Amino acid sequence: MKFFIDSANLDEIRKVAEMGLVDGVTTNPTLLAKEGKGFKTTIQEICSIVDGPVSAEVVSATSAEEMLKEAHIVSSWHPNVVVKVPFGPEGMKVVKKLTAEGIKTNVTVLFTLTQALIAAKAGATFLSNFVGRVDDISGEGMVAVRDSVNMVHEYEFKSEVLVASVRSPQHIVEAVRAGAHIATIPFKVLEQMYQHPLTTSGIERFTEDWKKSGLNFD
Ligand code: E4P
Repeated sequence: MKFFIDSANLDEIRKVAEMGLVDGVTTNPTLLAKEGKGFKTTIQEICSIVDGPVSAEVVSATSAEEMLKEAHIVSSWHPNVVVKVPFGPEGMKVVKKLTAEGIKTNVTVLFTLTQALIAAKAGATFLSNFVGRVDDISGEGMVAVRDSVNMVHEYEFKSEVLVASVRSPQHIVEAVRAGAHIATIPFKVLEQMYQHPLTTSGIERFTEDWKKSGLNFD
């Protein structure tokens, strides 16, 4: 499974890059607004830190023409930029055109199998299926992920299923069980994935016993 980091925070992205685990980055207008730096500068800075797909989202969701203009702007910023396109009839026209031009796309705010099917038929590189927002309202976000993974395999689409709106390590467990290709993980959740009290106490005990033993590496 590929790990993307779901962040526009350069410090977080640097730390994850140092961990050696990051395969790509997803941003969205909310994450970028939180950082308050320029869109282009931030995306280009991210591309200089991570050598992998970096999603930059278009915002004119109701007009294919406007989205296409925005798509060409963001994709000119760096060869690794993937154009993130909100799902919908206008968005899917954009995805078809960009796919024909050889530009990679990440279709976002997907919640159902039928939406993912349409996005895959339009040629999406990544299908961003949101799970946390569904679980937040007592749904089962991972159901659509499982269905979409099966659909992609069954019909041999080239699209990869990307689990988004991740809230906890448990979402990653379920994403692995569903066979998802990618999870885009908030920094805090990635940190939590390292943690286990028995790992901490186990390491402490080994360290103490080693010190007491008087042994060394000679
Ligand atoms: C996906 O690419 C989105 O940026 C993100 O996962 C949305 O997550 P949220 O529901 O925490 O806003």
